[in-house]
Amino acid sequence: MTLAGRRQLSAVVCLAHRAGKDSEAVLGSLGLLGELLLLSSVVFLLGVACGCPEECRCQTSLNSVDCSHQGLAEIPPDLPPQTLTLHLQDNQIHQLPASAFRSVPQLTTLNLGNNSLSLLAPGAFHGLQHLRVLNLTQNSLHSLESGLFHSLPQLRELDVSSNNISHLPASLGERWENLTLFAVQQNQLQQLDRVLLESMSSVKRLFLKDNLWKCNCHLLGLKLWLEKFIYKGGVMDSVICASPDTWKGKDLLKIPHELYQPCLSPSPDLESWQGQLLGPAPGAVLRPPESHSVKEQDQSECELKPKPRPTNLRRALVTVIIAGVLSGILCLMMLVATIYGCTYAAITAHCREAPLAQTLEPAKTEGKDLLDSPPA
Ligand SMILES: *[C@@H]1O[C@H](CO)[C@@H](O)[C@H](O)[C@H]1NC(C)=O
Ligand SMILES: *[C@@H]1O[C@H](CO)[C@@H](O)[C@H](O)[C@H]1NC(C)=O
Ligand SMILES: *[C@@H]1O[C@H](CO)[C@@H](O)[C@H](O)[C@H]1NC(C)=O
Repeated sequence: MTLAGRRQLSAVVCLAHRAGKDSEAVLGSLGLLGELLLLSSVVFLLGVACGCPEECRCQTSLNSVDCSHQGLAEIPPDLPPQTLTLHLQDNQIHQLPASAFRSVPQLTTLNLGNNSLSLLAPGAFHGLQHLRVLNLTQNSLHSLESGLFHSLPQLRELDVSSNNISHLPASLGERWENLTLFAVQQNQLQQLDRVLLESMSSVKRLFLKDNLWKCNCHLLGLKLWLEKFIYKGGVMDSVICASPDTWKGKDLLKIPHELYQPCLSPSPDLESWQGQLLGPAPGAVLRPPESHSVKEQDQSECELKPKPRPTNLRRALVTVIIAGVLSGILCLMMLVATIYGCTYAAITAHCREAPLAQTLEPAKTEGKDLLDSPPA
């Protein structure tokens, strides 16, 4: 039988199944027990053939199953095996066991958004060879097991936004050559491993905003990678620094390169530096205490601070201010002297005040005229 033929048959079977459900209700109210039992068994058989779970709506022609918004606590066990698209969003599923989707190996799109997922077994997505879109947005995930997505060679779009993820393992994307969209906005991330970024060689759209980005040397790798990404035509939102205080609220991409100079300057500790900056060095974070002070020094260097103003400039500024104040005093003194002179001259009736008053007089009267004239 051809694929189309099989689909048509299953569509007919599904219709019969629906009709059966309706008549079951009617017969039930009539109390025809025997017929009901018979019909129920027929409905049951048809139900198996159709394979649409009670809580879901199946669109057989599209091989799409919509079980969204049903208050489900787990994945329905009787999903049609030919399902390509599975909507499980807006439920209360809180964990996925290993091989949770073994009954639907053809899946290409899986939406698990707005559930209560906090625990994903390491092999949760095992067997989904064809999965292209995986949506895990709006859950309660704190971390992701490094091998979680390794069984998804076709993965194109991954959405883990709006969770509580604080760390993404570098090897998470070991097989992400096909990934074109990666969304991790609204999480608790402070940094993103350069190795993880490099593994997404085909990514075109990136969503990173609303995380706790710590804009120190650790984020230089991300900055440089993003610059290249945008240059190649990639689309992204923004990386807004959450710390340190100097850069809080600033866009990582707008922090001048010069300020990253200390991150690149050679130091005795350079090797561990490069480990922290450019590659995954699992040991780098947990280092023996004897090197602690050195590391702390590094980190304080690492915090990007705007350079203090050179002292020369400060001195020049002080000089200018003093000069200004002195000349101000001088001017004041000259003014006082002038007034004194003028007063003296007025007393001796030789001051030039008289002509000055004359020139002021007409202007005053003109103003009065304007004010006194009635409104037109
Ligand atoms: C999330 O799902 C719940 C039901 O579980 C629903 O009431 C709520 O509206 C959904 N939220 C969004 C943003 O869709
Ligand atoms: C995931 O689902 C959310 C909510 O339904 C939607 O806004 C978002 O675009 C989806 N992500 C992808 C990659 O399709
Ligand atoms: C990416 O997809 C192609 C076919 O679309 C597939 O042959 C290849 O194996 C995939 N990449 C990985 C890393 O699995």
